[in-house]
Amino acid sequence: MNKTGFSTRAIHSGEREEETGAVVTPIYQTAPFKFKSAAHAASVMAGEEKGYVYSRGLNPTTEVLEEKMADLEGGEAALAQATGMAAISAAVFTSIKAGDHVIADEVIYGSTYDLFVDMAKFGVEVSFIDTSDSGNVEDAFRPNTKLVFFETPANPTMKLTDIKAVSEIAHERGAEVMVDNTYMTPYYQQPLACGADVVVHSATKYLNGHGDTLGGVIVGTSDFIKRARHTAKNIGGAMSPFSAWLIIRGMKTLPVRMDRHTENAMAVARFLQSHDKIEKVIYPGLPEFPQYDLAKKQMSGFGGMIAFLLKDAKDVPLFLDSLKMCTLAVSLGETGTLIQHPATMTHAVVPRDDRIRYGIADELVRLSVGLEDVEDIIADLGQALDRVNY
Ligand SMILES: Cc1ncc(COP(=O)(O)O)c(C=O)c1O
Repeated sequence: MNKTGFSTRAIHSGEREEETGAVVTPIYQTAPFKFKSAAHAASVMAGEEKGYVYSRGLNPTTEVLEEKMADLEGGEAALAQATGMAAISAAVFTSIKAGDHVIADEVIYGSTYDLFVDMAKFGVEVSFIDTSDSGNVEDAFRPNTKLVFFETPANPTMKLTDIKAVSEIAHERGAEVMVDNTYMTPYYQQPLACGADVVVHSATKYLNGHGDTLGGVIVGTSDFIKRARHTAKNIGGAMSPFSAWLIIRGMKTLPVRMDRHTENAMAVARFLQSHDKIEKVIYPGLPEFPQYDLAKKQMSGFGGMIAFLLKDAKDVPLFLDSLKMCTLAVSLGETGTLIQHPATMTHAVVPRDDRIRYGIADELVRLSVGLEDVEDIIADLGQALDRVNY
């Protein structure tokens, strides 16, 4: 299937001929699988032949999602987990051991940040730096640095990291590069093709696209995924077959959804830019975006996420409470428009001084532009902004 287009592969990759003729991948809602014989069991358990044993390790429905994701990200293999955080922690634990040093971007999803802070108790040192400047990455390297981790665009400030440049620096020094590609999805950005070693996702977001399940995926080489599968089996955060089924279904419409998210986000960004109560709009599709050239080089579309700053942080609650259609909720990448305040919600775990230094200002609002008619999204934001008086 590799030579066909992305939309074709989003629909067909990984899908199997079912014995029953079922056109849609069935939900194999079973914990164990029956062995054909004691000899078969021994051979499967010894890894001499492939077979399904127990759904914490391998399940046919989840495997379809894994094969689809490996193909779309251009990796050799993939592993699905119950949540994005289960995927990220399994991938990080696969990559590093006690005594190693990690370089992580300072602007990452709050729980990922928290996970890296917690790594100290396992004897892993983590330096949080601004990876959008490749020089900082070079400077942060130590002899024991084994992993460089970042999101691009970063949640929630939208700053980009040059995947190719950072991968070259890391590989010269013997470290792996892991990229959280949740915001862009493989439709708009393929980190492995830019030189990264491992891609992680919160499939809860655009991949599923409908906000009705949690999920996470790791993509990398067959060797990395084999090791990650071993680690993940013992941590135990397997994806349920029903979640895999929902995400497979969601992914079939990923390209059309992403294009509409982008079209709507562009119009919303321009509206916010023209509004006198908005201090600043941060969206990679705007020519004023400071890394616009990198955005065009590294991404084939700009996506549905926007960050913007109100003029005064004290107006944020009134603005959010005045919205009628846009939903005040964390998460992102679903059909409806979601809005949230990182300082008090997704990034509340980051100590305030650090948060401000990283650019996650109290005035900053994060918007996940949905698939509604864009005039309605703009009208709702507009009427809520009208309630804010300076
Ligand atoms: C960029 C990013 N990565 C990872 C995660 C964690 O994913 P999950 O909530 O599916 O565990 C999130 C969640 O918001 C996210 O925004």
